[in-house]
Amino acid sequence: MAVVTISEKAPLLLTNLPGPQAQAYIARDRSVMSPSYTRPYPLVIDHGQGVHVWDVDGNRFIDMNAGIAVTATGHSHPAVVRAIQQQAEKFIHMSGTDFYYEPQISLAEQLVRLVPGDFPKQVFFTNSGTEATEAAIKLARYTTGRQRLIAFYGGFHGRSLGALTLTASKAVHRAGFGPLLPGVSHAPYGYCYRCPVNLRYDSCNIDCVGFIEKTLFAREFPPDEVAAIFVEPIQGEGGYVVPPPEFMRRLRELCDRHGILLIADEIQSGMGRTGRMFAMEHFGVVADITLVAKGMASGMPIGAMVARKELMTWPPGAHGNTFGGNPLCCVAGLETIKLLEGGLIQNTAQVGVHMLERLKEIQRRHRSIGDVRGLGLMIGVELISTWDGYSPNHKLREEVLYRCFEKGVLLLGAGYNTIRFMPPLVIDQATADIALDIFEQTLGDCETEGESGV
Ligand SMILES: Cc1ncc(COP(=O)(O)O)c(C=O)c1O
Repeated sequence: MAVVTISEKAPLLLTNLPGPQAQAYIARDRSVMSPSYTRPYPLVIDHGQGVHVWDVDGNRFIDMNAGIAVTATGHSHPAVVRAIQQQAEKFIHMSGTDFYYEPQISLAEQLVRLVPGDFPKQVFFTNSGTEATEAAIKLARYTTGRQRLIAFYGGFHGRSLGALTLTASKAVHRAGFGPLLPGVSHAPYGYCYRCPVNLRYDSCNIDCVGFIEKTLFAREFPPDEVAAIFVEPIQGEGGYVVPPPEFMRRLRELCDRHGILLIADEIQSGMGRTGRMFAMEHFGVVADITLVAKGMASGMPIGAMVARKELMTWPPGAHGNTFGGNPLCCVAGLETIKLLEGGLIQNTAQVGVHMLERLKEIQRRHRSIGDVRGLGLMIGVELISTWDGYSPNHKLREEVLYRCFEKGVLLLGAGYNTIRFMPPLVIDQATADIALDIFEQTLGDCETEGESGV
């Protein structure tokens, strides 16, 4: 195996950013692409390999966001590429809604095996996360005969209209699109509110599960109208918020008491991202329906709803799609699972612990860092202003993201003021350290300049 030196792991910048080629593409993009896309900095990718990407001007970056937690096995893993090529030579599409094919059956068998829950399960394949959420909304209503749904503030479940109704992370996602689905209510999530006494998140005294029982069920509607509670085991887009373990256990107990389905949205947290195959495993809680997408096939567009078999009471024709479970995506998914089980989950747990420790060290040196939290390679770092009493600092977050890009490290934000670290699961400690050094240096520069109200 070729030895990769430290300098080959580091970013390599040949031009100012964006370079001339990137500028030309961005000018073209502006005239034809929807302005609704959010681009925090002007990266125009040419190709990727493992944890690195190269832009169209030949600049090399360390990718700490994996295409929003998607390219689990790294960019263009050779085994995944080979599987897709071989399948493409056989057939590219046949529609799993109408016909049978082996890669789809095999991937469903793997998901049924891997998704937590010692009971028979069945799978519905989709093309994306939001479609998996839609499938779960429909199945939950169909199979329980109840209409109401509960989700959490800060949660993100997708942008199609049903899923968007569950999403309550940023008002801009919803503004102007109403009316949304009727019968959806939200509750506070885990420790999502800062304790007013000591300003820390981890000792928040708001009882989030109690809110459902004491406020929603007592004042708005009875529990027997509720079909399902949708929950992210770790909130993703909402700010990489890890709830205390008792939150998930109490939710399960609440659902059991009232015959409500617990639906785990593992679209971002699943498939090895947290150092376990599914994040719910950290809490020892089993959901009735699990939603998967993002990292499932290393970048090929596929999602799935995996439900207790006894819930799948809907008849042929009740739900379907044209492209869901496309064979190219299924073989990529099968290869991804092999790689995850063959060592990448272990790597995620190890490098994740290292990164979390290092980020906590960095936190001790930097007054603009609030909370640092995460599991595996799903880590959030909050940026705050200290001069006005620890308020969330959005401007600093945006500035750090941009300047890290200018130094060759690709990061993304989550929530209002959190930076998320979610590299491909193939990342090694040395490469992670280079990225963290650049992050710390950049943050230090911003603090010294004090431009962002640190
Ligand atoms: C937890 C969660 N659910 C659902 C979605 C929606 O997935 P998609 O963008 O594939 O529709 C996302 C996307 O970020 C997500 O993080």
